[in-house]
Amino acid sequence: MAFDIEMIKAVYEKYPSRIAAARKAVGKPLTLTEKILYAHLTQGEATQVFKRGADYVDFNPDRVAMQDATAQMALLQFMQAGRDKVAVPSTVHCDHLIQAEVGAAADLNKAKDKNREVYEFLSSVSNKYGIGFWKPGAGIIHQVVLENYAFPGGMMIGTDSHTPNAGGLGMIAIGVGGADACDVMAGLPWELKFPKLIGVKLTGKLSGWTSAKDVILKVAGILTVKGGTGYIVEYFGEGAKSLSATGKGTICNMGAEIGATTSIFGYDEKSEAYLRGTDRSDVADMANAIREHLTGDAEVYDNPEKYFDQVIEINLSELEPHINGPFTPDLAWPLSKFAAAVKENGWPAKLEVGLIGSCTNSSYEDISRAASLAKQAVDKKLVAKSEFTITPGSEQVRYTVERDGFLDVFGKMGGVVLANACGPCIGQWARHGAEKQEKNSIITSFNRNFAKRADGNPNTHAFVASPEIVTAMAIAGDLTFNPMTDTLTNEDGQQVKLEEPKGLELPTKGFAVEDAGYQAPAVDGSKVEVIVDPKSERLQLLEPFKPWEGTDLKGLKLLIKAKGKCTTDHISMAGPWLRFRGHLDNISNNMLIGAVNAFNNETNKVKNQLTGEYGEVPAVQRHYKQQGIGSIVVGDENYGEGSSREHAAMEPRFLGVRAILVKSFARIHETNLKKQGMLALTFANPADYDLIQEDDSIDIIGLTEFAPGKPLTVVLNHADGSKDEIKVNHTYNEGQIEWFKAGSALNLIKAGI
Ligand code: F3S
Repeated sequence: MAFDIEMIKAVYEKYPSRIAAARKAVGKPLTLTEKILYAHLTQGEATQVFKRGADYVDFNPDRVAMQDATAQMALLQFMQAGRDKVAVPSTVHCDHLIQAEVGAAADLNKAKDKNREVYEFLSSVSNKYGIGFWKPGAGIIHQVVLENYAFPGGMMIGTDSHTPNAGGLGMIAIGVGGADACDVMAGLPWELKFPKLIGVKLTGKLSGWTSAKDVILKVAGILTVKGGTGYIVEYFGEGAKSLSATGKGTICNMGAEIGATTSIFGYDEKSEAYLRGTDRSDVADMANAIREHLTGDAEVYDNPEKYFDQVIEINLSELEPHINGPFTPDLAWPLSKFAAAVKENGWPAKLEVGLIGSCTNSSYEDISRAASLAKQAVDKKLVAKSEFTITPGSEQVRYTVERDGFLDVFGKMGGVVLANACGPCIGQWARHGAEKQEKNSIITSFNRNFAKRADGNPNTHAFVASPEIVTAMAIAGDLTFNPMTDTLTNEDGQQVKLEEPKGLELPTKGFAVEDAGYQAPAVDGSKVEVIVDPKSERLQLLEPFKPWEGTDLKGLKLLIKAKGKCTTDHISMAGPWLRFRGHLDNISNNMLIGAVNAFNNETNKVKNQLTGEYGEVPAVQRHYKQQGIGSIVVGDENYGEGSSREHAAMEPRFLGVRAILVKSFARIHETNLKKQGMLALTFANPADYDLIQEDDSIDIIGLTEFAPGKPLTVVLNHADGSKDEIKVNHTYNEGQIEWFKAGSALNLIKAGI
């Protein structure tokens, strides 16, 4: 992967001068986060200090990673950008669409068949545009990235919320929507609000039953699911240095569960060992040469209160194993208190299934420690009482742990090895009997445990813990079991106790793999044809959106006046619709079906002004489109909060909505609307929301003089012939106005402007 080495070299060459400039601009010692961010400014060397939590800053990430569900629309958009190749190293990983049912081989074959058109598209589009393609079965995006691409001091964006996993190897890695990935692959800067910083000082050392997972389970309990929003979490201290690189990855991975922008650890001996262990001694040598820039300044870590916005301290020597849940990952229980909590809350104590692995916890260390317990169970004649599954994070890990006998031990304990994929973690689990919706408990080493996530059953109580605790619980089959203190009865009726788990951070014989599942792209992709079946229900090539017609917009019909919360889920629902992520026309049939109509308090029921009848939102909008009539959507506060899903902006644009007028926007959605060439407007006077009537025809005036900071006028033509004229604001800058005029940001990129 010479492309990578050259890229990393180029990044590291810039480090000394960029850090020197950042030091001067900031005027005080720097955290690691600041070093990496300032080293990746689009403007080059820093000339000013950025205000944390306030300033929007342009960055140039070094790489892009995409998983198969989100890559589809990202790459369909990229095809519109008119580029021959991606501007930064990028990869696609086929991990989300494989359903776990009976076991690895059969499940993988079934998935290949079922998702053939999606895989063919992703494989061919990757081949054409210089993107590395990891086939189904190769592994889960974040584990594969950690093993192959993450590097200390780098910056990456990924179209998946657990992209921060790469922070374990000292990379700023952030989850984004497909439109952002498309921009960066096209060579454009990527904008981020300069984050605030939480410092987590780790002292002491882990021992016995406690593992890296327990650090983040504890942090989640302290910060809760919202506590990290707008923050980057930086870990440091002697305790941090004692953790393996993959353990650090686990902690950063699950930082997504506290809402953090990302999490990061500094470069240390463990990072170096992992780089060398994964065949990247060249990267380790280069990192060693600029070592001082790949960790925060000593003064920062000596006096963290002065440099971080918030500081948490955890003593690893005193940390207990934790179990978090059910239904939320921040309900943190130290193991010693968990049995009582199970009883007091009436959670089902009988454990049905224990699931280990996933992108969060499937390192060699995790698997070897869990296997040490499985071996004890076999040796001590304990029969696992619960079902038990293992999801390896990559083919490299799977092959190595099979070679070293761990999978065999799990098999003897009754475990089933699933495909190297997300599987049960993302609801791709054909769990038998789940449809009966019975109350039951499962425990996983995954990261999320919201209702219905694993098996679709709202009554499944899912708990999250380390792989070691999950394995011990699966052996006991009982959530009130405490492996640190309790005994179990074996086949011979004897009382036996599980000893502390033991494992290895890295395989003594090194990693091995026969076929890692990687497909390198064509050197010259110009002749490669992208495969999209025109009859496909799941994929559709995009057509460019039409440019602005050059006049004010008049006679727009009110499509819906949405009331209250209107998140990206209300605008473009997930669940069964995920299947259509690559087909804009088909997925548009979910447009705004979750939004509440302010005139009847119902969802998906709006008045068709042309017929006077009520219909479903997408159907009414399709009627307007067919008649060549534009429309407008009105919304309340924080419209479009939630995910960065670009479909929520593309669908209305595709169906002919011309403007979204709201009291306020969630910023990412507002930017997404602008990128798609839509008008994103806010009421100058929020009370004007009340003036909007169900039968309004609406004019937007002033577009011929559309300029930054200059309000536009909206005329509400009511059905009774009366009118209201109101002012509306916008936040378009010069460049974004050009997006609007061109019809979309992509149209402008394609035109080479
Ligand atoms: Fe996949 Fe679950 Fe990770 S969905 S990427 S294994 S969080």
